[in-house]
Amino acid sequence: MKKIFKLKNILISLSVIFIIIQFIRPSKNLGEAFGPNDITQSVAVPEDVKNILVASCYDCHSNHTNHMWYENIQPIGWWIGDHISEGKHHLNFSEFNTYKDKRKSHKFEEIGETVTAKEMPMSSYTLIHGNAKLSDEQIKLVLSWAATGQEKFKQEGDKD
Ligand code: HEC
Repeated sequence: MKKIFKLKNILISLSVIFIIIQFIRPSKNLGEAFGPNDITQSVAVPEDVKNILVASCYDCHSNHTNHMWYENIQPIGWWIGDHISEGKHHLNFSEFNTYKDKRKSHKFEEIGETVTAKEMPMSSYTLIHGNAKLSDEQIKLVLSWAATGQEKFKQEGDKD
């Protein structure tokens, strides 16, 4: 009898904690994906590449995320919010043109590497966003586009 009483208390406490954390919401990422400093100001982004990046990368690597309803449930929202701020910190396509040439070149290199190694888009993301998963064809497309970008800024960087 006593044990059941304790379990009940624990469940009530957990429910209260769950309700309280619902009020602690991460801020949403609802800026402009294509603004004055976006990647199209640095390099040409062909339509097919742009479609891939928007569908598979922009939720975590731009100033605009297509937020899902379940992000309103904590701690899921915290977990996803963390990915977004981490992702933007490493690479933000909406701010790409503010990077120095050397960094641009390096980011293009990393884009090629992470996509080829299938590290990006993250598997926890493609699990839910099936359409974000890249086909071999799409990987090739991103890779050759990234190689061009890497070369472009490497050369410009070498000149000065
Ligand atoms: C669910 C969120 C998410 C998606 C979608 C996503 N990324 Fe990332 N990305 C991250 C996070 C978080 C990091 C930083 C931590 C890490 O390296 O795992 C990161 C890091 C990176 C880095 C830097 C790697 C490094 O070594 O610093 C590159 C480049 C990158 N992502 C490219 C991409 C590309 C290209 C796509 C789309 C094809 C993509 N990402 C999709 C979350 C994401």
